Amino acid sequence: MTQGVSVRAATVADLADLIHLETLFPEGDRISARSWRRFMAREGCVVVATEMGAPEVLGAAVILTRKRSQTARIYSLAVDPRAQGRGVGRMLVQAALAQAQAAGCARLSLEVRPDNAAARTLYRTCGFEDRGVMPEHYADGTAALIMDKEVPSGPVETKTQ
Ligand SMILES: CC(C)(COP(=O)(O)OP(=O)(O)OC[C@H]1O[C@@H](n2cnc3c(N)ncnc32)[C@H](O)[C@@H]1OP(=O)(O)O)[C@@H](O)C(=O)NCCC(=O)NCCS
Repeated sequence: MTQGVSVRAATVADLADLIHLETLFPEGDRISARSWRRFMAREGCVVVATEMGAPEVLGAAVILTRKRSQTARIYSLAVDPRAQGRGVGRMLVQAALAQAQAAGCARLSLEVRPDNAAARTLYRTCGFEDRGVMPEHYADGTAALIMDKEVPSGPVETKTQ
């Protein structure tokens, strides 16, 4: 566990922080306020990391599950630059795994830009493996690298560094 940081379900009070976090992504890839509201209405779909006793969102993840699918998906994951390098991203991946497990999913999958070295290293060190390429996935026409990982059946690893 990263010292003093915990992960909880997002609420509408987090909306401004979530929208601000999205500025880390190219404009065409950002989640709209409307979509954030829709995601937050789904239980367990949006989780945020916060410092104990402080309301500001340090990072967030969107986890999508579908009733008839055994695969959950990390749709978005971002950490505020001021909080990066402290294990928050890894905590959010673990929260996504826990959510996938709670939803009864066998695998957790995601898409990442091939040139996003930080995210690829994060996912690789969390046990995700390259599974292929999705052509023209992003709004600018860039292909996505697909990565996935088996969802553990026991407790989700909470170790950080
Ligand atoms: C990718 C991102 C979420 C990582 O968040 P973070 O909180 O800084 O990551 P953590 O501190 O939990 O790092 C965990 C591991 O990821 C890897 N990692 C994180 N940042 C890295 C970087 N800049 N370069 C290389 N590896 C990195 C390391 O293996 C690190 O473990 P270590 O600290 O023991 O070396 C963050 O950089 C970010 O929000 N980037 C912009 C948005 C984005 O690209 N999201 C992913 C979309 S798929």
